[in-house]
Amino acid sequence: MSPSAEQWTGFYALMKRKSGLDLALYKQDQLQRRILSMLEARGARDLEGFWRIVGRTQKDLQWFMDKLAINVSELFRNPEKWSEIERLVIPDLLKNTTRLKCWSAGCSYGAEAHTLAAILDLNYPGGHQIIGSDIDQTALDQAKAGEFSEADLRFMPDRYKQKYFERSGKGWRALPPLKNYLTFQRGDLLGDEFDSGFDLIMCRNVVIYFTDPAKEELYRKFYAALKPGGCMFVGSTERIFSAKEIGFTTTIPFFYQKPREGKTQQWRNAS
Ligand SMILES: C[S@@+](CC[C@H](N)C(=O)[O-])C[C@H]1O[C@@H](n2cnc3c(N)ncnc32)[C@H](O)[C@@H]1O
Repeated sequence: MSPSAEQWTGFYALMKRKSGLDLALYKQDQLQRRILSMLEARGARDLEGFWRIVGRTQKDLQWFMDKLAINVSELFRNPEKWSEIERLVIPDLLKNTTRLKCWSAGCSYGAEAHTLAAILDLNYPGGHQIIGSDIDQTALDQAKAGEFSEADLRFMPDRYKQKYFERSGKGWRALPPLKNYLTFQRGDLLGDEFDSGFDLIMCRNVVIYFTDPAKEELYRKFYAALKPGGCMFVGSTERIFSAKEIGFTTTIPFFYQKPREGKTQQWRNAS
């Protein structure tokens, strides 16, 4: 079946009213393909019938939203970038403050947030704060439990694995030192007001699902949420095309900095 544009608009309006999530801000081809395959799997005839299934209760709606999200992640994803965070980015951020306020936006089941917590605790221990947020409640519940598969830890250096993880069934569980830094909460990057005063915002492999105008608006909101001198970390296939226009400076690929008053960024010559 191929619903008309009006039918999609009607479905999105119901969804926005009931969940707050604006599906019109996602890339349409990809999104509609996924919704239609769910619709068929649930035996619905059309979008109206599908809504009667997924819009019935908050629990059904949550199931649908969880299915929509693609949660692929792992600890130390793109290890060379984490090495730059450890050696260059964090020391620079610590010139502003002794307690970093960090945000993993679109954190999925918490791999990125746990990676940062391990790096901070081993190398720069202190009262840092790491918030992970996502629209997917099931992924957040796993993040809070700190449970990971064997594959999730494949890039994790042994010094981190030995200190911060213990065996749990066929996988691994994060130990308390990491949990002290971490808070996980539900949040919609396309609808919510953001907190501010962040030293580091990581938003990686999330905006690939969003339309270009939605991405642009999001990066402007991230810029406003950063402290002067704060840093934005994006995914290894992503670029902020309007970085300069927004006000970011760039030096290391995939890191964007909000300039300190009257200063340019300083990591370039660090080693
Ligand atoms: C591929 S995962 C990225 C995980 C992690 N950042 C990484 O790079 O390994 C994408 C995550 O974005 C989340 N997401 C999608 N739309 C979102 C939205 N509007 N607000 C918050 N999170 C969203 C999904 O639920 C999913 O967990």
